[in-house]
Amino acid sequence: MCGIFAYLNYLTPKTRKEIVDYLIRGLQRLEYRGYDSAGIALDTPDSINITIIKETGKVKALENEIEIKAHAIQFDHTHNTHVGIAHTRWATHGVPSPVNAHPHRSDDDNSFVLVHNGIITNYKDVKVFLMQKGHSFESDTDTEVIAKLLGHIYDNDKNCSFRELVDQAILQLEGAFAVCIKSRHFPGECVATRRGSPLLVGIKSKTKLAADSIPILYSKDAKTTLSPDHRGVGALGSSVTPSTPPSLVAPPLSRADSTSQFGPQGEDKQVEYFFASDASAIIEHTNRVLYLEDDDVAAVKDGVLSIHRLKRAIDDPHAREITTLKMEIQQIMKGNFSSFMQKEIFEQPESVVNTMRGRVDFENGTVILGGLKDYISEIRRCRRLLLIGCGTSYHSAIATRQLLEELTELPVMVDLASDFLDRNTPIFRDDVCFFISQSGETADTLMALRYCKSRGALIVGVTNTVGSSICRESHCGIHINAGPEIGVASTKAYTSQFIALVMFALMMCEDRISIQPRRYEIIQGLKNLPEQINLVLKQDENVQTLAKELYEQKSLLVMGRGYNYATCLEGALKIKELTYMHSEGILAGELKHGPLALVDKLMPVIMIATRDPVYSKAINALQQITAREGRPILLCSAGDTETQAFGSSFIEIPHTVDALQGILTVIPMQLLSYHIAVMRGCNVDCPRNLAKSVTVE
Ligand code: F6R
Repeated sequence: MCGIFAYLNYLTPKTRKEIVDYLIRGLQRLEYRGYDSAGIALDTPDSINITIIKETGKVKALENEIEIKAHAIQFDHTHNTHVGIAHTRWATHGVPSPVNAHPHRSDDDNSFVLVHNGIITNYKDVKVFLMQKGHSFESDTDTEVIAKLLGHIYDNDKNCSFRELVDQAILQLEGAFAVCIKSRHFPGECVATRRGSPLLVGIKSKTKLAADSIPILYSKDAKTTLSPDHRGVGALGSSVTPSTPPSLVAPPLSRADSTSQFGPQGEDKQVEYFFASDASAIIEHTNRVLYLEDDDVAAVKDGVLSIHRLKRAIDDPHAREITTLKMEIQQIMKGNFSSFMQKEIFEQPESVVNTMRGRVDFENGTVILGGLKDYISEIRRCRRLLLIGCGTSYHSAIATRQLLEELTELPVMVDLASDFLDRNTPIFRDDVCFFISQSGETADTLMALRYCKSRGALIVGVTNTVGSSICRESHCGIHINAGPEIGVASTKAYTSQFIALVMFALMMCEDRISIQPRRYEIIQGLKNLPEQINLVLKQDENVQTLAKELYEQKSLLVMGRGYNYATCLEGALKIKELTYMHSEGILAGELKHGPLALVDKLMPVIMIATRDPVYSKAINALQQITAREGRPILLCSAGDTETQAFGSSFIEIPHTVDALQGILTVIPMQLLSYHIAVMRGCNVDCPRNLAKSVTVE
């Protein structure tokens, strides 16, 4: 997740200082979306070229860099019409560094300069194609291909309008993007487009706007000139070999359709436009905004905003409405959520998709993890797999161990990093060691990594933070792409780590014929997950009712077994760290070996008993609890009235394949700990005594 921002002033004189301040303020508002590096682009004072300034680290570092360059920037110079673009980055491809920071450009002349949020999944194929055409790249990012692609199309057809160039470029892209582009060839114009990543346009004008909506225009020729076969680079990802790509220069799109007028009425044509990833960066300038939809191409030329789409769908509306925001900034950043943690819990239908994006092909049943594919045969030959992490990250290893054992047929060891080091665990050259960490900076995990690396093992990093220490020091790895997690308690990173490890297990067994039906059911399970997570989230009110019953208790036990054991540990950890209540995750099979002594009619117990291969054993444990007058709260399969009869209350969990059940059962536990914390007056985003990244032993 990154933040993008653009500001266009048309016939509205602004000094360069004012423009830079607007860009920096926009980035400050969006900084929560990522803060690995930041950058801006604005015209040179003579408006002939484009100046790009970027810096690693937070927006503050960029501000300092701009301050150093103040003299060269010529702050006092005024532009009547100008486009500035800005970006704050959360790295997905390429470590945080000045060269990987945005804006990116098409060439040394800065013909096209852009900022991007999202992931271009076919960027490697596009890059190969463009390199064959003689383009060279200066960064490791997926984004740079968009800039180079625009330059390439422009070089082949200089009669295209700016918007038409963008139309053609996005036809070649797969994945998710929101992009704002400026060009030396089209001064005073800005084109922005999105697919899968958010983007909205703010409009500010002294005079009344000509309309309350903007009609959607269609690039009429697009369907016929850019046939599916002509998708060119887009098709490279699957079938066409990069050495023989079809020409990227499609016949020009219709040019007669950009006539719709949208702008201020009357003589006074002054207008300002703001493009941003979310409203927090816009609201201080204007509350009149328009939300772009997937594949909308918004272009401002001569102060007039137009919105184009390549193809008309039957249910397409005819126009995009301009809405009036009535929210405060703080509200916008967290949306309708009261805390980042709550927002992150509710983001999971999206974050799990981002983890799988471009990696799982649901149609063909294939899984490709780009960061591991060159190592997979070495991993298949290893002596054993070791999964090492702390806290929630460790729980994701517990959650997936059984599936890894089943699909890889290798011994799998799971360890807490601190304990692993305390034991001086023997490590061999033919071991493969996974280090799982949201932050990529946890000291214990990092030290365990160095310990294994020094003994010659293959090191695989599984992190949410590109360029982190664990990323840099690993031989290979998986980025979980969950987006920045701001709440100290980990939620969406857990479900994404879980899925990353499941994808690895699937990749390990792709050529084992006997296991294909099992692979198929898991891949189908992955496909249905976002929808099923939504179903669980819809039960938030029921969970809140449960929280009301529990929030004054001193202790809470969470029990389950098999694939749900990890949820017990993770659920109890969430309760402890957020609510400061005592909580324990108990393996139901261990109940009679001690913990049963805790159970009486007063002790609150949550029992996870979903319909899976250990269901009948979980029911045994449930009966042991009810025999001691316990009235457990159940997390059980949807519609399972037989099980529901054992409990005082229940939350229904949609049925999925056993190995993925833990992704759905953990969500009510996240919600429950959140609600109990709120009811107990605890700070949800920053629990006492804890830090998001534990960089000390
Ligand atoms: C719990 C939590 C911690 C972290 C642990 C490891 O909600 O967030 O238990 O999981 O400190 O952190 P990472 O994953 O950054 O290595």
